[in-house]
Amino acid sequence: MKNWTHSGSLNQEPSAREEKHRALARRAAAEGIVLLKNEGVLPLKTSAPVALFGSGAEKTVKGGIGSGDVNNRENISVYKGIKEAGASVTNEDWIRDYDKRYKEAREEWKEKILEDARHVQNPFDAYAANPFVLPDGRRITEQDLRGAGAAVYVISRISGEGKDRRLEEGDYYLSVREREDLLYLDRFQIPLILILNSGGPVELTDILQETENIGAVLNISQPGQEGGRAAADVLFGRAVPEGKLTATWARRYEDHPFPDTYSYLNGDLEKEVYREGIYVGYRYFDSFGVRPLWSFGYGLSYTSFRLELCGLKQEQSSVRAEISVTNTGKRYAGREVVQVYVSLPHSGIEKERRRLAGFAKTERLAPGESGKVKIEIPQKQLAVFSQERQAWITEAGTYGVWIGNSLDSAVLSAYLTVARETVIEETHRICPLEEPFEELSRGEAGDREKEKKETGIPVCEFVPCREPEIKNVQPAEEQYPVEELIPLLYGNITAGASTLGSAGIRVPGSAGETTEALEEKYRIRSLIMADGPAGLRLRQSYQVDRETDSVYGTGVLGSLENGFLEPMEIHENADTYYQYCTAFPTGTALAQTWDTELLAEFGRAVAEEMREFHVDLWLAPGMNIQRNPLCGRNFEYFSEDPFLSGTLASAVTRGVQEHTGCGVTIKHFACNNQEDNRMGVDSCVSERALREIYLRGFEIAVKESAPAAIMSSYNLINGVHAANSRDLCTVAAREEWGFKGVIMSDWNTTVPEDGSIPWKCAAAGNDIIMPGNRRDDADIRRAYERGELSEKQIRECAGRILALVKKLNEETQK
Ligand code: BGC
Repeated sequence: MKNWTHSGSLNQEPSAREEKHRALARRAAAEGIVLLKNEGVLPLKTSAPVALFGSGAEKTVKGGIGSGDVNNRENISVYKGIKEAGASVTNEDWIRDYDKRYKEAREEWKEKILEDARHVQNPFDAYAANPFVLPDGRRITEQDLRGAGAAVYVISRISGEGKDRRLEEGDYYLSVREREDLLYLDRFQIPLILILNSGGPVELTDILQETENIGAVLNISQPGQEGGRAAADVLFGRAVPEGKLTATWARRYEDHPFPDTYSYLNGDLEKEVYREGIYVGYRYFDSFGVRPLWSFGYGLSYTSFRLELCGLKQEQSSVRAEISVTNTGKRYAGREVVQVYVSLPHSGIEKERRRLAGFAKTERLAPGESGKVKIEIPQKQLAVFSQERQAWITEAGTYGVWIGNSLDSAVLSAYLTVARETVIEETHRICPLEEPFEELSRGEAGDREKEKKETGIPVCEFVPCREPEIKNVQPAEEQYPVEELIPLLYGNITAGASTLGSAGIRVPGSAGETTEALEEKYRIRSLIMADGPAGLRLRQSYQVDRETDSVYGTGVLGSLENGFLEPMEIHENADTYYQYCTAFPTGTALAQTWDTELLAEFGRAVAEEMREFHVDLWLAPGMNIQRNPLCGRNFEYFSEDPFLSGTLASAVTRGVQEHTGCGVTIKHFACNNQEDNRMGVDSCVSERALREIYLRGFEIAVKESAPAAIMSSYNLINGVHAANSRDLCTVAAREEWGFKGVIMSDWNTTVPEDGSIPWKCAAAGNDIIMPGNRRDDADIRRAYERGELSEKQIRECAGRILALVKKLNEETQK
């Protein structure tokens, strides 16, 4: 429609919105920092000079790369954060020298990408295959440490879509230089503080044993543009740490289940067999007695808390726990994350030892102060899925309720008793295995738990009930000729471009649009989609020709890394528009706050930017399960636990969708747990593990917060591409969970050879193929003519898209 105004501003000055979101990004980053170790070292005093080293000291990594990146205005490094806080840095020369090395390494890397890009079809593949590796700094000398009261060492890692992390020095392990530096620094009698600036674990077991002076370890994760300020806030005690891990940090990589078969490690990128079944993350460590370095839910504070269960009671289909929390420290006010885990009775079906069933964060409590939190344990967290009976069942027996501020510290605090087994929900068989395999089992270890029973703790009876019936009514069929509806089933190919980053031309740097084909005749506009999850990924600036009013596009590489690989061409007689989006902390960093209110606030902030830049659908939050620490995209995801992931995704969704005209796209549905060969890998997984672990988060998000859209994943599940899976898109999401929105594919899912089949996307209920191409159109039309794809199926997909366009449109006009 013609009344389009260009997205962004002609004014380059920071706006009031930018300032406001900068403050939120800083607060969120600080809240997500996890204090993993502190031997009385932190907080530091700003009066004592700091010696600061490591690749991330002045090049602090805000987030991962690829579609999860944000082209924001400025990143604040740990160095800058420390200086702004008022502390001096003893090794300015080392910092300057590092900058030189960094710039050289960036230029070399750029050349390699540009060269590799010439030999692949999609330049993005050259980029994804070669994430930038931060160079070593120069050797540290005594001179660098002169006058320092403490040394801070920042270990940074970069990863992103299309490639898994490597089980190598410099990635999962410390690099040779990092180890040497830390051993060298350990010789000086000053406290050494490790800062981890990585999207996931780096193995630290050896270095912590080999050194004496590492007095504190802070996991700042990938904390967004304000990360350096947030780190300084925690280092100097202006913020009291309150983050908790959302994944287990193992002592050794080999401690994970089936460590050698993950992704590229067994040389088989075609099939990934989920042999561990339900034993993912802490469910494995806890059930098999494998001691981690830091457990799920773990994180220290500058103060301490006492937790006490004061009441447990049934409320309709959930149990409500009331817990009193007291700050038992003397100096610092702080907040605590109260976590409730449940252990299920060990009858019939094999189960993990404990699972997260509820959590809440306290208000800020002053020393000596007490507060109460109420935690809802939904009955489904007490249920198991039986594949044989195709049902979620709450078994009869005794359930343990464990309360603590981490999984490891959780204590058995009450029992729930269920008198009669209850089927709370019936299901349909989905995603059958092509070839059966043996899943990991606890065997007798599980049975032994039966015998232990504590006395003297409260017991509460719980009566499960049926979950509400789902009725999913199809949107009213629109009376357009079916042939004219077909373009709705793929993205807007009118512009011609169809690769990541450059497909969306109306809002430069957005990821794509629904079709414009129905605009002229029916006044049905397209929906504009932009990536996340750490904010909005748009181009920071672009030009518009004054005469033709048309936007100068860019190639795929130009839309990445803020134009570093392919700088924007400057045209005469053109206006430059600026789109400064905020780089918030990544999914993992946000999740480490365990703060649903904060995540909703983050969602509201993203929606504000969506409105400012004309974006209708945000391609986030990412909510895949962190099944293995080497997955290249773990930083985008929340956790290894589905309940936590689902609850946090719901909070973000509520926040975004509170804003009229804004919708989220929860992704990648499902089992996108590996990045090497992400388009072709077949995730072989039992229906039980699928439902209890990999779909559960999506189910929670759908039921609790009605996301506008879902993005299906690239991979196959038991031999069927997610975008071609009727079981996933129609049976599970729509019929069983009541999902009413649109399902779109991930980008270019229909690549020839190992991609999904275009018409089968529509047949499965994957409404839109993104970004779409002429082959998709031809394939869909052919299938329709041959009767493989019915008119009803086309109308159903189109009807859902039209309903969403209408909804977001009407809301925008309010
Ligand atoms: C990613 C998606 C992203 C899409 C659009 C794909 O490569 O897997 O997460 O939303 O590109 O940029």
